[in-house]
Amino acid sequence: MKDLINRLIEKEELSLQEWEKLIETDFPLEDLFLKANRVREKIYGKDVYIRGLIEISSYCKNDCYYCGIRCGNKKAQRYRLTKEQILECCEIGNQLGFRTFVLQGGEDPFFTKERVTDIIVEIKNRYPENALTLSLGEHDYETYGEWFDAGADRYLLRHETADRNHYESLHPSQMSFENRIQCLRNLKEIGYQVGCGFMVESPGQTSETLAEDMQLITKLKPEMVGIGPFIPHQDTPLRMEKAGSLEKTLKMLALIRLAHPHVLLPATTALGTIHPQGRELGLKAGANVVMPNLSPKDVRKKYSLYDNKICTGEEAAECIRCLKLRVENAGYKIVEDRGDYKQ
Ligand code: 5AD
Ligand code: FES
Repeated sequence: MKDLINRLIEKEELSLQEWEKLIETDFPLEDLFLKANRVREKIYGKDVYIRGLIEISSYCKNDCYYCGIRCGNKKAQRYRLTKEQILECCEIGNQLGFRTFVLQGGEDPFFTKERVTDIIVEIKNRYPENALTLSLGEHDYETYGEWFDAGADRYLLRHETADRNHYESLHPSQMSFENRIQCLRNLKEIGYQVGCGFMVESPGQTSETLAEDMQLITKLKPEMVGIGPFIPHQDTPLRMEKAGSLEKTLKMLALIRLAHPHVLLPATTALGTIHPQGRELGLKAGANVVMPNLSPKDVRKKYSLYDNKICTGEEAAECIRCLKLRVENAGYKIVEDRGDYKQ
């Protein structure tokens, strides 16, 4: 494995078979984490960027088999934030030192092109120095273009898996793998900083599908990659499946850092959910971003993608205080910065 890892560090491309071997072979990971950490420190130092996550709607027209807010889940509690509520979250976030806001939500038809544009314009007008990220699912080229022109800087759209058969096993037939990938290409072409990503150990995932994920990342070269363990949600068809492991998630974080050194890589809330030190360990394995929740406290529990999600009982201020301590204890530092991709 040493040989394959060194080739990654030398910026060589690995074949699908080589990726598979690296992913499926069990070997002690400490050395891999140290190497990933060194690469990250060379580019981003000990800085950790924060993104203020505002979960604007738990309505979704999609029915992804893994997700707690799928439209088929009649038990899900639905809410959507008003423009005023969203702006209030931004104000609180800005005062707490956030220089990036992320508007995330299910694919909610209420949030039309026009409504979202209006919100983007107002946020950028009030906080011209701050970066604005959207994570609102699949839309047509024109919509993405209009939102970009209105001032959105970045877009997160996890591809979920780079393997078509695997994708089709996780989604109903109305959803198209081609369209997902096309959306990512469109976002890049329009000029967004783009984030793709996937769940680790989702049902049906194999070393081969993960190898395909790694090749998608090295080809697309997204500015951001979001990964976290799959965690079953009790009211979804995948409720009986096993959660992804800490080890495998950390290993994939480290491999992503080595294969694509400049990437902005969050230690996700899902990782913090499966292990009390998950996010800290994620930072030590190569991650350099954390995404605390800025959503109003009374809606937090309703944005339930998976079971036992952390930070649903805390105010934004408490969460960021807690996270600052955690990050410092792990040997890093949260900075007040937009945290753009470094070329
Ligand atoms: N476990 C972990 N992650 C999930 N997501 C959705 N459902 C789950 C789950 N059960 C992730 C998906 C989606 C992102 C917003 O959350 O990857 O893109
Ligand atoms: Fe949210 Fe600790 S990070 S409570």
